Amino acid sequence: MRTLRNLFTLIILLSAALLVLPASSANTDRKEKEAVTFTKDVAPIFFKNCAACHRPGEAAPMSLLSYKDARPWAKSIREKVVNREMPPWHADSRHGEFKNERRLTQAEISTIVAWVDGGAREGDTRDLPPAPKFVEGWGIGQPSGASDAR
Ligand code: HEC
Repeated sequence: MRTLRNLFTLIILLSAALLVLPASSANTDRKEKEAVTFTKDVAPIFFKNCAACHRPGEAAPMSLLSYKDARPWAKSIREKVVNREMPPWHADSRHGEFKNERRLTQAEISTIVAWVDGGAREGDTRDLPPAPKFVEGWGIGQPSGASDAR
């Protein structure tokens, strides 16, 4: 019977697809995401590009110096870096003027996105780089003055 044979073929095809899919795309995807951790991959970016403002006592709303502090903000961080709202740069009058070097590279953005999408894992604490040292008041500088007032 034709329909029965078609059904049979369909089942074979489906099970083949089920076997092949996890082995190829899903698997490599997952591996890549699992590999991204806070301590190894994300902390160096936060320390370099974010911590000047995102640390205790500075203007930004939360610290990004530790996994414990950064983890609850993962979704928001993803959104802000993908939209390039964070880190602020250029002559953004809300925050004063900042140097372009603080901008993230595409690779750094992809790392943060992969970290969040992979479950925002902490990773091995031995991977954590030393926390950056800041001179008080160095990070933000003075607002660029009365001309900026709106
Ligand atoms: C020049 C200072 C500065 C730098 C550098 C900076 N931020 Fe911010 N960030 C702020 C300030 C101030 C706010 C709060 C006001 C605002 O949202 O604009 C903020 C807000 C945020 C928020 C939103 C918090 C909320 O209330 O929802 C996120 C997420 C964030 N920053 C992530 C980052 C990340 C990630 C980096 C580094 C890649 C970074 N920021 C770098 C100053 C900074």
